[in-house]
Amino acid sequence: MTTTETAAPDVQALILVGGKGTRLRPLTLSAPKPMLPTAGVPFLTHLISRIRDAGITDIVLGTSFKAEVFNEHYGDGSDLGVTLTYVTEEEALGTGGGIRNVYDSLVADTVLVFNGDVLGGTDIREVLDTHRDSGAEVTLHLVRVGDPRAFGCVPTDDDGRVTAFLEKTQDPPTNQINAGTYVFNRDVIAEIPAGRAVSVEREVFPKLLAEGRHLQGHVDSAYWRDMGTPEDFVRGSADLVRGIAPSPALAGAKGESLVKAGAHVAAGAVLIGGTVVGADAMIGPTARLDGAVIFDGAIVEAGAVIERSIIGFGARIGRGALIRDTVVGDGAHVGARCELLRGARVWPGVQLPENGIRFSTDV
Ligand code: GDD
Ligand code: MG
Repeated sequence: MTTTETAAPDVQALILVGGKGTRLRPLTLSAPKPMLPTAGVPFLTHLISRIRDAGITDIVLGTSFKAEVFNEHYGDGSDLGVTLTYVTEEEALGTGGGIRNVYDSLVADTVLVFNGDVLGGTDIREVLDTHRDSGAEVTLHLVRVGDPRAFGCVPTDDDGRVTAFLEKTQDPPTNQINAGTYVFNRDVIAEIPAGRAVSVEREVFPKLLAEGRHLQGHVDSAYWRDMGTPEDFVRGSADLVRGIAPSPALAGAKGESLVKAGAHVAAGAVLIGGTVVGADAMIGPTARLDGAVIFDGAIVEAGAVIERSIIGFGARIGRGALIRDTVVGDGAHVGARCELLRGARVWPGVQLPENGIRFSTDV
């Protein structure tokens, strides 16, 4: 018997995937956010592949909203070369409660926790090294962004030690934010209150800091994007297609567009800006797709223009329609020459008649 066969792993990963993804509605009415197709595969496949490539194969998914969808797709994880287990919250317990809820499934002393909607290129082993070298009880991956107000603001001192955690404040003291990856010593997880909703950002981190505990920041400038809004989802998907965002799940993919098997793109259609065309989708002649995310089975008719928008499963965009910065829900029909701009959302199954909606009259 060799010890390596039976030894518990040093590090386990937990991915929090229980959120409702409200900012991505209506797409998240039918699928949880981490399962939305992103550059041809469910978003979560990119994250799981990255964790696996860092040498961590024991991964727990903390599920709640639409929990069954994950198990149906990934099963035991063997197709991706990992061992997946699922721990489901009957009632959503929040980010901190979700971490506490998996405590009984943890055997490793060191636990990497991931928000399940972050597209990143960070070297995970380096985050673990920072954790070990600093001797912290918790290490937080931090990045700098232009506008920190939508995130957790995390100032650090000269030694990189976290001095405060300010979730979504209007007046953040720094542009350094919580990137949504943490390293926890397992014992700290046991301290999180069990059996009730807890926010790791609003309750756990501030309490640990108030107690003077050692929380360390790991700052880097690798690719990073929270995929929680349509704007970011579209950008992140395009960045994957163009090779700007790295993903081991997309080996070799780099170009202006990605067309899945079974899709049909008519001659004369233009696909640019990191556009993705899903399986069995149909793109008509002279359609122009720039940074578009077309889910499986959707139909884009001749001459339609789609820019920076997501078109849901089986939706249909009529001839000559203009769709920009918009989300069209599954199975919706947008009639010929309709114009949808600037954050419009069409709910699943809705039918907009030909010429039914215009934002201007100059076309
Ligand atoms: N299991 C479980 N249970 N998971 C949850 C729950 C829950 O009740 N609520 C949210 N999650 C998961 C979501 O599915 C997502 O993967 C992750 O936790 C973070 O939730 P979001 O809703 O995406 O949070 P956010 O983007 O507003 O803010 C968080 O991420 C930012 C970085 O992307 C915070 O952690 C911020 O501090 C951070 O800056
Ligand atoms: Mg998020």
